Amino acid sequence: MDSKTDRRKFLHHSLLMTAGIGLVPGAFATTKKVSANDRINVGLIGCRNMGFHGLRTALNTGEVNCLGICDVDQKVLAQRQSEIKEEFGQNPKTYGDFRKLLEDKEIDAVFVGTPDHWHCLPTIYACEAGKDVYVEKPLANTIHECNLMVAAARKHNRIVQVGQQQRSGKVWKAVMAYIHAGKLGKLRKVNIWANFRYGTGAEKQPDGPVPDGVDFDMWLGPAPKRSFNPTRFHGNWRHFWDYGGGLMTDWGVHLIDMGLWAGDVKEGPKEIMAFGDNLSYPDHSRETFDTMSVTYPMGDFVMNWEHTAGIQVGPYDMPYGVEFVGDNAVIVADRGDWSVKPEKAEDGAQVTLEAKQDFMEDGPGDLEAHVRNFIEAVRSRKQPNCPVETGRNVALYAHMGNIAVRSGAGRLLWDEGNLRFTNHEEANRFILPEYRDPWRLPVY
Ligand SMILES: NC(=O)c1ccc[n+]([C@@H]2O[C@H](COP(=O)([O-])OP(=O)(O)OC[C@H]3O[C@@H](n4cnc5c(N)ncnc54)[C@H](O)[C@@H]3O)[C@@H](O)[C@H]2O)c1
Repeated sequence: MDSKTDRRKFLHHSLLMTAGIGLVPGAFATTKKVSANDRINVGLIGCRNMGFHGLRTALNTGEVNCLGICDVDQKVLAQRQSEIKEEFGQNPKTYGDFRKLLEDKEIDAVFVGTPDHWHCLPTIYACEAGKDVYVEKPLANTIHECNLMVAAARKHNRIVQVGQQQRSGKVWKAVMAYIHAGKLGKLRKVNIWANFRYGTGAEKQPDGPVPDGVDFDMWLGPAPKRSFNPTRFHGNWRHFWDYGGGLMTDWGVHLIDMGLWAGDVKEGPKEIMAFGDNLSYPDHSRETFDTMSVTYPMGDFVMNWEHTAGIQVGPYDMPYGVEFVGDNAVIVADRGDWSVKPEKAEDGAQVTLEAKQDFMEDGPGDLEAHVRNFIEAVRSRKQPNCPVETGRNVALYAHMGNIAVRSGAGRLLWDEGNLRFTNHEEANRFILPEYRDPWRLPVY
């Protein structure tokens, strides 16, 4: 057995043996408790785009103070700090190293809006510091990191909300209420599609100098060292395996999660079959697949995932959507609306179904509802709408689509008890990331 295999076996064994039991003492002092009327003190790690949307949404509720923001790009940091001052009259400290932000004992909770390869350590270190976490989706960039994050959240008894805001969205809640009330009849299939132009990446450009004010080594973090290229940086990183998983994980975790919710599935996948390739835009810079078809046999129903990056048309004239196929009807849904298409009876007469309006309530947008739900959970200590287990679960489905293709397996069988693929050894190589010095995967 080589040393790499040794290390993997050790980490794997540690995780199975110690998840939830406790191990490494936290490197940070524990944060104080939040009482029901206190404003919650928050920090933000990764400020450019979605992280800031989450923070701004929280600030808009009037229930939080922002004490600190952190980014490795000084320009982004300065811009976000001045926006927070202007819009909310608050003056957060700025940090270039998230570990320093986590040392502030006054901070109760953090938003993590870094690229996917940088979700695991900030989340785990925050849990160890006694802080609650709103971490963007997908939970992490590998299966093993997802497992560690669940173990850390549970060991340190933290609230972790994953940024799959559809779990708090009124359209999806109505769809689920309709399905779970039995209106759709037996759920037979969930067909999901996500066609987005951005999925082919940016036009190719040569490597170049690191932009002024960017700590690129810290941006890479645990990922392999390499020279700077703008087509792998801000926003574009999602098309490269070291940092993200392409449309399969970017949208996969939002939409596949709706199939899992509909089927009341709380476990990882058992079996998946996938095809993926890069068939378009050779002048664009990416590694992730522009074209994918994935099938998940779910026991008593089947889920199908389809994406075609670079184009933006799809079934029902919708670029993305979910079709829930039942014996009585088909529901078609996206974030904006849903419709019920009743099955015809044998004599051709339309089956009468209850009106979908009866299941729909008014309410805020998905992100606002999700952030409010996080704030409530921080106060009540009750599980949020998308706890870390739910984020982990769907991340496995999405990552396995990519792993099935990257490993050459095509079809994969997963053993949830042993956290391994049983039919293809090469695929197991993708479970555990190789962290670059000085970063280390925590042991849980
Ligand atoms: N929930 C949603 O609908 C949704 C939408 C978009 C993005 N996202 C998720 O949000 C995350 C961020 O995506 P984005 O589009 O905002 O990416 P982005 O590239 O626009 O922003 C990421 C920011 O993190 C910063 N950063 C990188 N490493 C850092 C580090 N070590 N410490 C501090 N800051 C660091 C970058 O400099 C950048 O400012 C991703 O996980 C993405 O999947 C979720």
